[in-house]
Amino acid sequence: MYQSLVKPFLFKKDAEEAHHQICNLMKNGLKVPFVKPILRAQYQFDHPKLEREVFGIKFPNPVGMAAGFDKDAKMITELDCLGFGFVEIGTLTPKPQEGNPKPRLFRLPKDKGLINRMGFNNGGVDDAIDRLKKKGNVIVGGNIGKNKVTPNENAIDDYLYSFDKLYDHVDYFVVNVSSPNTPNLRDLQDKEPLTKLLVTLQERRKNYEVRKPILLKIAPDLTNGQLDDIVQIVSEIKLDGLIATNTTISREGLVSTEKEISEIGMGGLSGAPLRARSTEVIRYLADRLQGQVPIIGVGGIHTPEDALEKLQAGASLIQVYSGFIYEGPKFIKKINQYLAEKL
Ligand code: FNR
Repeated sequence: MYQSLVKPFLFKKDAEEAHHQICNLMKNGLKVPFVKPILRAQYQFDHPKLEREVFGIKFPNPVGMAAGFDKDAKMITELDCLGFGFVEIGTLTPKPQEGNPKPRLFRLPKDKGLINRMGFNNGGVDDAIDRLKKKGNVIVGGNIGKNKVTPNENAIDDYLYSFDKLYDHVDYFVVNVSSPNTPNLRDLQDKEPLTKLLVTLQERRKNYEVRKPILLKIAPDLTNGQLDDIVQIVSEIKLDGLIATNTTISREGLVSTEKEISEIGMGGLSGAPLRARSTEVIRYLADRLQGQVPIIGVGGIHTPEDALEKLQAGASLIQVYSGFIYEGPKFIKKINQYLAEKL
């Protein structure tokens, strides 16, 4: 039904508008008595082979919703009902911010891709806390970033603010320095500022009784030299994990015409065109880290085989975003059924 009815209807609308409409529909739908258990029965798939413990957390299955879909922690129960093993909220910033002018989310249907320049639109970290208090036992990652107006010299203060606010309400943290849509953010991926940022957060964690994992999310556009730096930092400071990868600024190998691509303009490309590069980065990191540090693999998973590819390249968990938009709500169950058979 998604492919034949819902998707053609949604894909006629502006991509961001469609996102909000489908989220509202899901939210309202779940208020109807018995809808939750019906959805769970239809979409969730449990199997002992899918369960895994990664950075000290027990996941019911390895398939998570990637950051950006539920920036403000409004859809946690809904995504849980659709069979996700975990949900990453954010990127959240200390102050609420509008993000870039609209339109800022575009589909490339011929490529099964998306281009976005959302620019961390979110309601601010404080606003998300009350909703997070109701997350129940769903595993939630808190993806944090800096406000656009905060200069890079003061970025650490922004990360610390959100870290403290979220500490008691999420299960793991993701330090996002890899979005292409906040000016100069990716400069924080350089060795010196990155080490300082991560070590500061690790120091701050000592204030808390329960130790929560801190992960770093990286861009697919890093050179091998930059990836080597990441490997060195991660090993030296004993970071808990990596997420590879965020969206790419590359437009290589697209089927969409030059005109279509240039009309869209700047932004991060996700979906099928990102698959191969993201897997390559995961493999590169996993080979060098030799299992020292778990990796969450994300980028271009559109089939169950793509999910297995990420795990075989060295990922311990995976996440999807664009694949969920293109393939529909049954996609997560399909991946999990396939993995239970193949693993
Ligand atoms: C994203 N992504 C993202 N990542 C992040 O760390 N913080 C964010 O706020 C966002 N926002 C966001 C918005 C939109 C519209 C998209 C499509 C993506 C990146 C996302 O989490 C993921 O890393 C990439 O999209 C690659 O995965 P897929 O989409 O190819 O499965």
